[in-house]
Amino acid sequence: MQRVTTIADARSACSQLAGTIAFVPTMGFLHDGHLALMREGLRRADHLVVSVFVNPTQFGPGEDLEDYPRDLKGDAKKCRNLGCDVFFAPRDEPVYADQHSTRVIVDDLDRSLCGQSRPDHFCGVTTIVTKLFNIISPDIAVFGQKDLQQLVIIERMVRDLNFPIEIIGVPIVREKDGLAMSSRNRYLDEAQRRQATSLSRSLVAAHRAHSEDPALPCGRLVDVVRTRLSELDEARIDYVECVHPQTLVPYEEDAPIGPDGAVMAMAVYFGSARLIDNLRIDRPLPDGPLRSLK
Ligand code: PAF
Repeated sequence: MQRVTTIADARSACSQLAGTIAFVPTMGFLHDGHLALMREGLRRADHLVVSVFVNPTQFGPGEDLEDYPRDLKGDAKKCRNLGCDVFFAPRDEPVYADQHSTRVIVDDLDRSLCGQSRPDHFCGVTTIVTKLFNIISPDIAVFGQKDLQQLVIIERMVRDLNFPIEIIGVPIVREKDGLAMSSRNRYLDEAQRRQATSLSRSLVAAHRAHSEDPALPCGRLVDVVRTRLSELDEARIDYVECVHPQTLVPYEEDAPIGPDGAVMAMAVYFGSARLIDNLRIDRPLPDGPLRSLK
């Protein structure tokens, strides 16, 4: 594995790889969720490139940029063990040049869900992902479905701006008790960690309610989730929405799920940790921990 820290070295290392390149952009502190993205990349391409960069432009004022967990040494080791070819962790030069003034905005899709409480977040994401795509020139890029809105926005950006890159979404990887893996889970204290399992449990409850009565209005499905979450004294709901899987537009409260299906999506604060999760309501539960949750 080549470890590179400058844009020029990353570009040169990637251009020397013969065959197809899968790219997994990350902010580091890698967990099994990231490793699943990397395995999927290796399965689909000849080479794997991973970047680790805690991107300041996607954090809002008062968010956890300074505290965001970091473990570059551990990350490099995990990537090497997995068979990564190039590990790009920029250092020694600014990623954003002086007077960087170009921003990539994917309109509309960035307004709902997380965009409501993190108004500049997705512009930060699409701008850094564009920069990384231009440095690495991958054939495919792999993202997690946990950040569903990010995935949908990047798919739209790649289509609209004609990037010759295939975007792959990988299902959420969960802890045994159902909690979606996230670098931010490490912020949780014991009580919060216990209560955080209710996120996935409430999604499963909404899934069950829909399969028992597919005509149930979306507002009622959202209520199932909200009622469960409101029992938690450590949790503060940012949003719970039942949305169209491609447009991310919330369904009307009194309408049932449409023919394209629906995703139940949520963001919940535990102290300063903001956790997100989502579940496709109209499809069978994915293999894994959700199937055994009550
Ligand atoms: O999903 C993430 O970790 C980040 O948003 C990404 C895609 C690496 C951009 O900084």
